Amino acid sequence: MTAAAGKGLEGVVASRTSLSFIDGLEGVLVYRGYNIHELAPNASFPESVFLLWTGRLPTRSELDAFEAKLAARRGLDPRTLEGLMSLPRDTVPMAALRTGISIDGLYDPDAEDNSAEANERKAVRLVARTPTLIAAIHRIRQGLEPLSPDPSLSLSADFVRMANGEPGTSEAVDALDRTLLLYLDHGFNASTFACRVIAATLGDMHSAVTGGVGALKGSLHGGANAKAMHTLLEIGELENVGPWLERAFAERRKIMGFGHRVYKTEDPRATHLREMSRVLTQQAGLGKFYEMSRELEDQMISQKGINPNVDFYCATVYYALGIPIDLYTPLFAMGRMGGWTAHVMEQHADNRLIRPRAEYVGEMDLRWVAIGDR
Ligand code: COA
Repeated sequence: MTAAAGKGLEGVVASRTSLSFIDGLEGVLVYRGYNIHELAPNASFPESVFLLWTGRLPTRSELDAFEAKLAARRGLDPRTLEGLMSLPRDTVPMAALRTGISIDGLYDPDAEDNSAEANERKAVRLVARTPTLIAAIHRIRQGLEPLSPDPSLSLSADFVRMANGEPGTSEAVDALDRTLLLYLDHGFNASTFACRVIAATLGDMHSAVTGGVGALKGSLHGGANAKAMHTLLEIGELENVGPWLERAFAERRKIMGFGHRVYKTEDPRATHLREMSRVLTQQAGLGKFYEMSRELEDQMISQKGINPNVDFYCATVYYALGIPIDLYTPLFAMGRMGGWTAHVMEQHADNRLIRPRAEYVGEMDLRWVAIGDR
């Protein structure tokens, strides 16, 4: 029996993908050959989803058609909404999203069909409906009626309208859209790998992405963006950063939004989110949270050599946009849905069961003891 791979499968290359590439030492992220620094300032979220799914940038008419297709499929089955309304009022949004996606799969006409054509139709519906689900979850928990989609609006603009009951500014919608693009795909991260493991059993797409939401919910993964904001609120003021961090180190606390399994330098997504945070917090009169973030970053790098990851500056971007903190991780899921579905399609296109071994470290050769003698 060979020895186990490093704890947490560190450094293990589990399979191949042509969707995204990460160089953790150089701080490089590439979607389908395009560096994230090329895409982030230029592409929209739907455009980057088209790129990820097809391997090329769309023409104007292809993008218009793709956006129209997404817009036409935003509406939820009324029975999905009924399911959401039956959840306990205090259900956390990520748990409600996990359940909502699973319910939505029950009514999907292609539910049990894993063909490439059915997978593409389901992927469109999942990317189109995740914003509607999150907005509905947010309305229902406030005792409000969910709003129907408006197909004349972009995916991000319609999300803001459906969640808040009123349209967002174009700056806010653009900023949200860019965070979705930055969250879209990231190699074999934990939630994507969970999706691929489920897909590789020939599990269906809804089962796979429901598993993805479950994996993303944890605070070492997507849950970190909300935790990072709670950290900043706990610190409270710029001058508290140093003493707070000293205490946190003494208590061996993990600082949420810092560190990464793959990046050992600047996370290239953080480069964009840092600048967005600077501009948006200033505009919202919340500049102190950006200053605190910079101070925390400086001290984490100088004392521990640990950089912020995608979730750290995304926290203050969402805070400046007035988004409730417990929706930060659902928004991560809204972006990553494009990646999860792409990985399910890639897995099904060339499938083999994913089934590693375990190195057994338990006891052997024990003898049976009758129940009365134990
Ligand atoms: N705060 C404080 N110390 C951290 C840290 C953090 N956020 N991230 C890593 N470290 C330290 C570890 O304590 C460890 O120190 P040690 O060798 O003295 O024990 C060292 O850095 C290596 O970290 P390790 O936990 O082995 O890294 P990992 O690859 O297993 O974990 C993360 C990666 C992302 C889970 C981890 O960095 C983390 O928990 N970060 C906070 C959660 C987060 O932001 N997640 C979102 C990721 S995009």
